[in-house]
Amino acid sequence: MNTTTRRGFLLTTGGVVLATALPRLVPAFGGDVANEAGEAAMGANALRRLDEEERAILGLASRAPSGHNTQPWTVRITGPGRWTIGTERSRWLPAVDPGNHDVMLSMGAFMENLVIAAGAYGRRVEYRVIAKSPHETALIETRITRADEIAYPVDAMRARRTVRNGMNKRELERGDIDSVTGKHSGFIYIPRLSAEGKYLAEATLEANKAQTWRNEAQEELADWIRWSKKEQRSHLNGLTPASMEITGMAGWYVGSFFERQSVLENSFREQGIAMAKKQVDNCGGWLVLPLTGNSPAALVEAGRAFQRMGLRVREKMIAVHPMTQALQEAPWKNEIAARIGVRKIAMLMRVGYVKSYPAPVSLRMPIEGFTRA
Ligand SMILES: Cc1cc2nc3c(=O)[nH]c(=O)nc-3n(C[C@H](O)[C@H](O)[C@H](O)COP(=O)(O)O)c2cc1C
Repeated sequence: MNTTTRRGFLLTTGGVVLATALPRLVPAFGGDVANEAGEAAMGANALRRLDEEERAILGLASRAPSGHNTQPWTVRITGPGRWTIGTERSRWLPAVDPGNHDVMLSMGAFMENLVIAAGAYGRRVEYRVIAKSPHETALIETRITRADEIAYPVDAMRARRTVRNGMNKRELERGDIDSVTGKHSGFIYIPRLSAEGKYLAEATLEANKAQTWRNEAQEELADWIRWSKKEQRSHLNGLTPASMEITGMAGWYVGSFFERQSVLENSFREQGIAMAKKQVDNCGGWLVLPLTGNSPAALVEAGRAFQRMGLRVREKMIAVHPMTQALQEAPWKNEIAARIGVRKIAMLMRVGYVKSYPAPVSLRMPIEGFTRA
């Protein structure tokens, strides 16, 4: 396995270097401060039950995207090759995602990476979604067995990232859409200037405003922004100035002077809305992933399809920015599917070509942060 890309990335993100190189020095993840030493010990204990390749597989799985980068996944090692994969309540987002819809999609993305990475390391993953509701913390039972290697450039998982800025307005080409989504995947591409495209831009912006001024949602966002390097190192999850694409002097300024309370100030909210306005006006269009059922299993499969696409866009220089507010806020959430002509929507994304693809910058917890024996 080629590790150069990863090393290059690690060197540019101080927090992750520390956690990866010296895992025992980082006691707690996800803000679960109750029993820091105990948590770290449990994670370290679980790791002893995994071989090096299994650890690499979990590391790659955790490169998956998640709402607010909460990294909701947990892995419980119940026996050799037997992992129960679930979610951690403290990493749910009840204010914006009370139904755990996005949590399930993130878990699907994690599973897609897991299955692909396992294949690349010569393992087959069989799994069963055991949860009947998205709020059950034990979600999936897996059985991992040795199998023929399925070649896959796993660096694509390390290179994937959400890209919010710098999209140009050129429409996506049909060939590129088909190549990244796969022909029968169900994704619908909506050009920015079509009637539906204009509706999606307006609905997304208006829902963004509504969510920004809904205090509960903004407080929750504030809980997941890691402004300082110190906070970034201690949590290794959540959003950072770099991952929100606040760069240069502005990035330095907010990293030095902003704190939780800043997110609740009117000026911060107004700037966020102004940025959303710019974003919805600058893209090639939208990708909609319809949903075929409401069960955890249906959402996990949608999350897998979302990630399968996400792993292919970089080579086509297509940026993907999930914008989920219109699926979360009324009245838009009640009308949007019908406006697009589908029954339900799993995911809504803004898409567009970019000239240069930025390197990934979002934080990740090391595997001992989410793995337990
Ligand atoms: C289910 C889901 C919903 C998301 N919703 C949004 C969103 O509404 N706005 C946004 O800017 N990013 C959204 N994201 C992107 C995450 O913030 C991003 O994946 C996370 O910060 C990790 O960064 P990365 O994708 O670059 O690794 C979403 C991601 C997922 C998986």
